[in-house]
Amino acid sequence: MAILVTGGAGYIGSHTVLYLTQQNEKVIVLDSLQTGHKEAILETSFYKGSIADGSILDEIFSNHTIDAVIHFAADSLVGESMKDPLLYYENNVMGTFTLIKKMMEFDIKKIVFSSSAAVYGNPEKVPIDEEDSTNPTNPYGETKLVIENFLKWCDTSYGLKTISLRYFNAAGADPEGRIGEDHTPESHLIPIVLQAALGKREKVVIFGDDYNTHDGTCVRDFVHVLDLASAHYLALMRLRNGHPSSILNLGNGTGFSVNQVVEACRKITGKNIFTEVMSRRPGDPARLIANSEKAIKELGWKPVYSTLETIVEHAWNWHRLFPNGFSPVKKNKIKH
Ligand code: UFG
Repeated sequence: MAILVTGGAGYIGSHTVLYLTQQNEKVIVLDSLQTGHKEAILETSFYKGSIADGSILDEIFSNHTIDAVIHFAADSLVGESMKDPLLYYENNVMGTFTLIKKMMEFDIKKIVFSSSAAVYGNPEKVPIDEEDSTNPTNPYGETKLVIENFLKWCDTSYGLKTISLRYFNAAGADPEGRIGEDHTPESHLIPIVLQAALGKREKVVIFGDDYNTHDGTCVRDFVHVLDLASAHYLALMRLRNGHPSSILNLGNGTGFSVNQVVEACRKITGKNIFTEVMSRRPGDPARLIANSEKAIKELGWKPVYSTLETIVEHAWNWHRLFPNGFSPVKKNKIKH
């Protein structure tokens, strides 16, 4: 039996593929390489293509005995989704529609879905429980919620079993430094701060210090990418063991402010990191912190890299080894 991992060349996807192969699972990766990196796939069968392409799914499902899908493939930039909702509905929602249609044709009835804390929007309280209200504040979060609901109806009507994992802020890298986080353009806080530590940026722009938090900067719940990977494996095992569908938060349950993250990066890297406070980034909630008790209970999930220091240390290790990310070409200095 093999697992199809869509988006397996992306940041969280590639770390999950690495983890699954370490558990002796047979993995097939499908990735368009639009944002993913071929170099992030270490020793796994790989198909280049889109989840919206029924013919490549026919080929994969005919050539391999696949019992489950772990579905990461998606566009995932909040700002971009605000500019181009059509793109997000087309790639995320319609792409998933084709994937599920093909899974039903080939009688594949298990899927672990990569959802997001973005489904909550501005939370009514923190820590956030799965039952709290979902009010996405951008099309990206909305597409994740649409898919969660679509999967629920597919369970009701076709018996498709699904675990949707709502990640908070994924961060860190493979502790052995083989793969890490590389987005173009980079918009995530920790890689940006580490680029500044490497001298690839002059400074880190802090988007607002007038939030209602202890130091005025936004607070986030950072979760190590390999702890997310282990949760995907446990979710898959739970579905294989015949358990019902579920929706689970994945975070550490501790919030760190943007300022605290910058300070942790200064400490780990030993570098001067300059910051400049600018205006708020539209759509940023002040605080996002997960209650992950349900995942701990249902999956037996135990995050092992839960301190911010470990998360930053592993990310720094990879950024130092690969200062240009996966690209061999040296990029120009990024302005800020
Ligand atoms: N930030 C800065 N400066 C930067 C980059 C980020 O101050 O240069 C701040 C942001 O304003 C935010 C915090 O750092 O307050 C974290 O920002 P990220 O972009 O790293 O992460 P987000 O919390 O915005 O987004 C993450 C995921 C999204 C997901 C969202 C859920 O990356 O995919 O959580 O709300 F949608």
